[in-house]
Amino acid sequence: MCGIVGYIGHRDAYPVIIKGLERLEYRGYDSAGIALYDGNTVNLCKTKGKVEDLKKKSKLEISLNGNLGIGHTRWATHGVPNDINSHPHYSNSGDLVIIHNGIIENYESIKKELIKRGYTFESDTDTEVLVNLIEEVKSKENVMLGQAVQIALNEVVGAYAIAVFDKNKPDEIVVAKLGSPLAIGIGENEFFIASDASPFIEFTNNAVYLEDEEMAIVRLGKEIKLRKIKNDAVAYPNILELQMNIEEIEKGGFDHFMLKEIYEQPRAILDTYRGRLLAEQGIVKMAGIDQHLDKFLNANRIIIVACGTSWHAGLVAEYIFENLTRIPVEVEYASEFRYRNPVINKDDVVIAISQSGETADTLAAIKLAKENGAFVFGVCNVVGSSIARETHAGAYTHAGPEIGVASTKAFTTQITVLTLLALNLAKEKELFTDVQFREYLTELETIPAKVEKALESNSLIEIISDVYKDSTNCLYLGRGYNFPVALEGALKLKEISYIHAEGYPAAEMKHGPIALIDEQMPVFVIATNKGHYEKVVSNIQEIKSRKGKIIAIVTEGDEQVKELADHCIEIPETFESLTPLLTTIPLQLLSYHIAVMRNCNVDQPRNLAKSVTVE
Ligand code: M6R
Repeated sequence: MCGIVGYIGHRDAYPVIIKGLERLEYRGYDSAGIALYDGNTVNLCKTKGKVEDLKKKSKLEISLNGNLGIGHTRWATHGVPNDINSHPHYSNSGDLVIIHNGIIENYESIKKELIKRGYTFESDTDTEVLVNLIEEVKSKENVMLGQAVQIALNEVVGAYAIAVFDKNKPDEIVVAKLGSPLAIGIGENEFFIASDASPFIEFTNNAVYLEDEEMAIVRLGKEIKLRKIKNDAVAYPNILELQMNIEEIEKGGFDHFMLKEIYEQPRAILDTYRGRLLAEQGIVKMAGIDQHLDKFLNANRIIIVACGTSWHAGLVAEYIFENLTRIPVEVEYASEFRYRNPVINKDDVVIAISQSGETADTLAAIKLAKENGAFVFGVCNVVGSSIARETHAGAYTHAGPEIGVASTKAFTTQITVLTLLALNLAKEKELFTDVQFREYLTELETIPAKVEKALESNSLIEIISDVYKDSTNCLYLGRGYNFPVALEGALKLKEISYIHAEGYPAAEMKHGPIALIDEQMPVFVIATNKGHYEKVVSNIQEIKSRKGKIIAIVTEGDEQVKELADHCIEIPETFESLTPLLTTIPLQLLSYHIAVMRNCNVDQPRNLAKSVTVE
């Protein structure tokens, strides 16, 4: 789970690579490195720490010249984060230089063989083994770099996106991919290589995404040709014209990406249903599902697979689907599903939810479902991502790039897409009258403005955050559609402020967690006026009588909970099934402000990375 960047062309490679690494830091940030080649000398600098540390160190220690360069930002898998284990890595001769995102699983046996042949290793990484394997093949077989890479990769087991160059070939970089993402940006006699398009989007909109088991020799003055690593078949690449723009991936005046992304939600939700929700005509149009309606309508059940926040969106979808469509739904952690020999068959529809579209566990769950004959539908944010390509069909969320490690707009846009999907099916199954259907669509259309309204509580939330910022434990409670929101609220707080937090269905509290409640325990309760309001009010009374502190998310105009709670945050009224799109907003803001007040690195919390491309 690392970020890789490469450049070859007429520009200075250094600023392109450094800026690109900054944009990819969401993929890992425990160490960083860069190698620049000016045709004579390779200048390599690497360090434990962030790209900022690399910038300082490289300016002091190396020449920054060169029109060819590769860079890496790391999330350690093999070997602790330190200077030596950071990428790029040299081969023993010093001729080859490599960066790698992924894991070579059989690196130990390859390393033993290479040691027998006289190779030595400085680092503990699998990547240094790979570059020396390429070198060994190159000299033993007397082949060029591209061929050596291909032969070597046929010997390795694992996942990789690599970029490697040879000092003796200053006009080319060889790239290859299996399991980890790799894009090539194509400019005017220049090429960019990156884990996603953000490092090169200001230079070119034209990009090629490598498929698994593909490689390319990126050579100045030549067109890109793709080659299959296994069988050498050559393919002309599918050059995509990307829509992303540079403003979307900058902070735009906000202190953190997370805050920017929280505030982008009205626009992101609107973009997600734009063109799909046609309230006046009383229809939902989703190109991704139109040809596959039968699969859904005849499904035995829907199985949702996802991880983290996307799994929480899946739980909300379970309530929505079962209520609106009466199709049974199961929601599974992808990481458990893939290893527990689940019963899947051809009448099951599997929905895989993933912001990044690169989560390794979700990808593996998809492959398993496909092997067992299920129809797999993807809900992803990143266009052209591995999951988007691996699924039979799908619908994108149109949230725009999500850079903050804590998922925010991904969650609300995933719920939006899944709601549209459920509505579409309910209409087909004639479970709605036309009037009810139109009412629902019209209400969904009001959500962006209502999210905007919910965001107006920001100053109040900042004050409440100050009161609870030093807590060591917090409880989050919700019922029905808002039980998953309680889980999501707790996850947000845990991951960015390092406060222990747990989400519970409010009624389960009496089966255990109630023992935790005393005057030190803040309890965040979602108590909107729809659904099980009276029951939640009883739960609040139980907390109050044990002296717990109550912070309640209530519907505008609420009076009953206001009497009981220590603090209330209002959200606008909406249909019960749409409340998660609003109740989640104050919880996102709370965790954001608490993390800032605790001086935590909001966008890059410790030990985490944005996309988890390893098991
Ligand atoms: O890219 P994905 O949606 O597949 O990612 C899944 C999780 O890794 C992700 O939601 C993670 O839990 C976030 N850090 C939560 O904020």
